[in-house]
Amino acid sequence: MLVKTARGTKDIRALWMEKGIVKAIDQRLLPDQLRIVSIRTPREMAEAISNMTIRGAPSIGAAGAYGMALAWQRKESLIKVSVILIKTRPTAYDLSYAVNLMLERCDEDLVKEASAYADRIVDKCKRIGENGAKLIKDGSRILTHCNAGALATVDFGTALAPIRVAHRAGKKVFVYVDETRPRLQGAKLTAWELLNEGIDHAIISDNAAGHYMKDSVDLVIVGADRIARNGDFANKIGTYTKAVLAKENWVPFYVAAPISTFDPSMSTGKGIIIEERSEDEVLCVGDCRVAPRGSKALNPCFDVTPVKYVKAFVTERGILKPSEISSFMRSK
Ligand code: MRU
Repeated sequence: MLVKTARGTKDIRALWMEKGIVKAIDQRLLPDQLRIVSIRTPREMAEAISNMTIRGAPSIGAAGAYGMALAWQRKESLIKVSVILIKTRPTAYDLSYAVNLMLERCDEDLVKEASAYADRIVDKCKRIGENGAKLIKDGSRILTHCNAGALATVDFGTALAPIRVAHRAGKKVFVYVDETRPRLQGAKLTAWELLNEGIDHAIISDNAAGHYMKDSVDLVIVGADRIARNGDFANKIGTYTKAVLAKENWVPFYVAAPISTFDPSMSTGKGIIIEERSEDEVLCVGDCRVAPRGSKALNPCFDVTPVKYVKAFVTERGILKPSEISSFMRSK
C-alpha cells in the first residue's frame, strides 16, 4: 500500500518477514503513528493477533502462517503453537486455514511457505480488485464498513481493492466510510488508506448509513471473516444492519473475499462463532470512558448476514452469484 510519510511515499505491506523476524504495522496506533513492530516468537505473534496489532481476516491468516514459521525456526512444537494461534480470534476462517496449511507442510521450510502464503493473498487481492472494478462506474458512490483494505489483507485489500483499481484507472469514485464502532476501523484505518491513495471519501457515523442509502449510495462493498457454504457470512458488527438497509433501498450489496474465506465445514452461518471482546471497547471511546460507572456493555465483534442480502461475491476467480459458490468451494 502507498503510505505518505515525511520522507516521501513508501510502498509497504501490513506485515512481512525479514531475517527471521516478523515485521508488522501496529494498526492500533494508526492514523497518528506509523510504527513497525518486530515479532520474534509464536507467543508474541499470538499476542499481536489478540490485541489487534495485526487484524483483518487475511492479515490474521498470514500472521498465523508466520507464527508457525517462527515456531518452526525455534524448533517449538508445531501442534501446540497451532492450537495457541487458532484460539486467538475465533471468527476469521483464514486464521485456522493458514495455520492448518502450515501444519500440513511441516516437512518443508515454513519460512518460505509462510512468505509464499502471504504473497498468494496479495495476488488474490489484486485479482479481486480487477474483477470488482467492473462493478464500479465512473462517478460511483460506494459505502464500505470496517477496514477491508491493505491493512486487513497484507496488501491491496478485498473490499477496497476494486475501489483502488477503479481509482487508478481514472474513474471518479466517492466512498462513504462507516466509522465502525467500537474500534473505529473505518474512521482510523480505511480513511487513512483512502487518504494515502488520494481517493475521495467522507467518514460517516454508523447511524448515518440509512440516511445516505436512501438516495446517495450506488453500491455497498464489504469484506468477510468467514463465509458458510450457503453464502451466509460473518463480518464486522454492523454489517448485517447495512445489508438490510441496502436491500430496503435497492442498493446492490457485494462481499469481496478470497475463496479461502469460504469455510467448507459450515453449511449455514448459524454455527459461526462470534468473538466477544472486552466491554471497555463499548464503554469507552479510545481511552475516555463515556458510560456511567456501573453500566455493563455487550460487545459482539462480528455479526452474520444471511445470504439473501448478498447480490454477489467478488473473488479472485470472478464475481460469483450465491448459487455458484458451492462448485467453486469444491475446487478450492
Ligand atoms: O476485528 P477486525 O478488525 O479484525 O475485523 C475485520 C473485519 O471485520 C473485516 O471486514 C474482515 O476481516 C474482512 S478484511 C478483508
